[in-house]
Amino acid sequence: IKHIGVFTSGGDSPGMNAALYAIAKSAEAKGIKISGFRKGYEGLIDGDLIPLKSHELKKITQIGGTILKTARSKRFLELEGRKKALQTLKANNIDALIAIGGDGTFKGLLAFSEICDIPFIGIPGTIDNDIFGTDYTLGFDSAVNTAIENIDKIKDTAESHNRVFIVEVMGRDSGYIAIHSGLMVGADSILIPESGKDFIYLLDKVKNYDSEDAFLVVVSEGDELGAELVSSKIKEVNPNVDLRITKLGHVQRGGNPSALDRMLGIRLGVAAVKTLLQGKKNVMVGVLNNQLHLTPFEVVVKQHQVDNELYELLELFGK
Ligand code: F6P
Repeated sequence: IKHIGVFTSGGDSPGMNAALYAIAKSAEAKGIKISGFRKGYEGLIDGDLIPLKSHELKKITQIGGTILKTARSKRFLELEGRKKALQTLKANNIDALIAIGGDGTFKGLLAFSEICDIPFIGIPGTIDNDIFGTDYTLGFDSAVNTAIENIDKIKDTAESHNRVFIVEVMGRDSGYIAIHSGLMVGADSILIPESGKDFIYLLDKVKNYDSEDAFLVVVSEGDELGAELVSSKIKEVNPNVDLRITKLGHVQRGGNPSALDRMLGIRLGVAAVKTLLQGKKNVMVGVLNNQLHLTPFEVVVKQHQVDNELYELLELFGK
């Protein structure tokens, strides 16, 4: 392998820059050239690439977002787009590709592998943590830290006014951020998409809520109800509540990566290059039980499920 292309795709997540630094550093150590495609698959289609140098990237490991920029490319969903991407790779003599992103990114790589046979390696980068084959994705830990920092603040004011507060956290189809942040801030109820009818328990609790304390609900944006519906159902069973909604939104995607995400970025970046040099292809590098682990893309795109231990915690604390 002489020239690796790398890109970040889908929603940005803290730790992506650390991974880029690690990829450049380990490739350079093996005499391999590294180029970065800008704006995810869009850059691949348009031939928008820049050389990456580890001494420059070293300065940005502590910064959130992605210096390569990112996008959710519609054009790459079409065969026409993928054919253009293939021409870009050939024109630039790129003989391996590393992609950092979420499940949409891996689905894209799977489709691309049907017309392009150079090796692809994936790195899980999404705050949602909904990727099969790794305990943690890049950015999840930072997003949870941001969520708890902000919910702690909301709790101060909620308790001062004895208010019901509904805080909506991110997670398009997954409740990882909600479970983790909800447990850590002592939420009275945690609603996640995976667990179905949790709001029934919530309504039972809130029916008898006597306004002598705060009542904190953390709901994942992916939950079928969402903050507004939860709010109207609460008001139906207890019209006297003084209720406010806060949606944390994209603040959860930004900010400097946590120690864990920087380390994960460095480990996975180095592992991606190593895996390519071992002759492997079409696998994602992840960490399971704190050990590096490779998972084929076909398996990765099946969603990461909330495990039994987390459900037990949810039963005990969040219902
Ligand atoms: O990247 C994951 C995520 O932050 C989800 O939690 C959220 O649903 C989605 O991206 C938001 O996407 P966008 O920034 O494109 O609105």
